[in-house]
Amino acid sequence: MTKLEWTPELGVGIVEIDEQHKRLFELINLSLECFYSPSFVCIKDVVNQLIDYTTYHFTTEDSYMDHTREASIIHRCEHEVCLERIREFSRRATIEEVDISLHLYKF
Ligand SMILES: [Fe+2]
Repeated sequence: MTKLEWTPELGVGIVEIDEQHKRLFELINLSLECFYSPSFVCIKDVVNQLIDYTTYHFTTEDSYMDHTREASIIHRCEHEVCLERIREFSRRATIEEVDISLHLYKF
């Protein structure tokens, strides 16, 4: 199993954002562990954590982008699309009771 590894080259030069990206990598790696040890409860829990933390992270990023209006609007739209895709994974997990991990990794 290949895990995501945050490296200094991925840094954006803002400590708060870099730390949040590291946490997102941890959550994605946790979901990988669930994928290789299939547990419906596990994957749903990870997806819910991803939704919560991604929402928190995007709010932080948005606050850093407020001074660049046009880029901010485009990037916020991208954030909303990303969040909606994760929410859709979560809904499918709830409704279909399927292992959504494959869909998560296509994302
Ligand atoms: Fe980010």
